[in-house]
Amino acid sequence: MTTEKTHRGDERNHQSERGSALSPARNAGSATRATTMGATPNDPRGELDAGREDTSLRPMDTTPVRRVAEFPTLSVVQHPLVQHKLTLLRDRRTPTKIFKELVDEIAMLMAYEVTRNLALEPAPVETPLEQTTGWQVAGKKLTLVPILRAGLGMVEGMSRLVPGARVGHIGLYRDHSTLEPVDYYFKVPSDAAERDFFVLDPMLATGGSAASAVGSLKRAGAERISFICLVAAPDGVRRLAAAHPDVAVYCAALDRALNDQGYILPGLGDAGDRLFGTR
Ligand code: PRP
Ligand code: URA
Repeated sequence: MTTEKTHRGDERNHQSERGSALSPARNAGSATRATTMGATPNDPRGELDAGREDTSLRPMDTTPVRRVAEFPTLSVVQHPLVQHKLTLLRDRRTPTKIFKELVDEIAMLMAYEVTRNLALEPAPVETPLEQTTGWQVAGKKLTLVPILRAGLGMVEGMSRLVPGARVGHIGLYRDHSTLEPVDYYFKVPSDAAERDFFVLDPMLATGGSAASAVGSLKRAGAERISFICLVAAPDGVRRLAAAHPDVAVYCAALDRALNDQGYILPGLGDAGDRLFGTR
């Protein structure tokens, strides 16, 4: 199998991107890739990988299935573009600028999926030719709540599809030794009970941050909450479901496990650091 995979730089290779997007599942699950077509002066990958086994993406490390029976609250967004962009996001060589763009684009694509069950109500509309009845999203006010810092990267992408959404903020960081969340900021609209909340964070690792954020929202009166991440670990999905079984969780990939420091494997590293260029 030959899959072409390019490194996105200032001069993005759109032609190559389209080519590899045609078979993302095979791309993500392949243990071998020949990538001679993708090499550019700034991207030696084609040269480096030519004819060699690539073990950086191991089959079975991430799940490609939409529903995993063991995790009833979880939906995996399988759209080919999401899977393709997620693989670029995982790549350790992806620079901050492109990482940011990818998080934004994946969030926008996920917004399409996570809003698919929003209720509709009839809406009168006058076309240039006659009066008719169309549809509009019913009553509920949508609110995006990024968990600082990394969740911020998902706000613009989601907002592009739901421009009327309000934005709350929850500030949390993981204590490096205990891995437990430490909260430092909370601000959401005051009419929380009337709103549908989408909590945003690229990473669901131990689940401590997500469970804490959802708990804070509930204490503020929120009743309808979904959690949207890019990469989830089984432990995190379990912990969030145990604490908040009413919260639907959406991810782009359910990864294999956590390492000793609580990082997701294979994961994408430290999302906040990669997004903001810190470290
Ligand atoms: C990361 C990530 C999540 C959290 C996930 O944030 O963005 O919020 O870790 O880990 P958990 O599921 O084990 O709680 P981090 O604590 O690194 O803070 P930062 O975004 O400010 O860097
Ligand atoms: N937070 C991150 O940013 N990445 C992980 O893998 C786990 C927690």
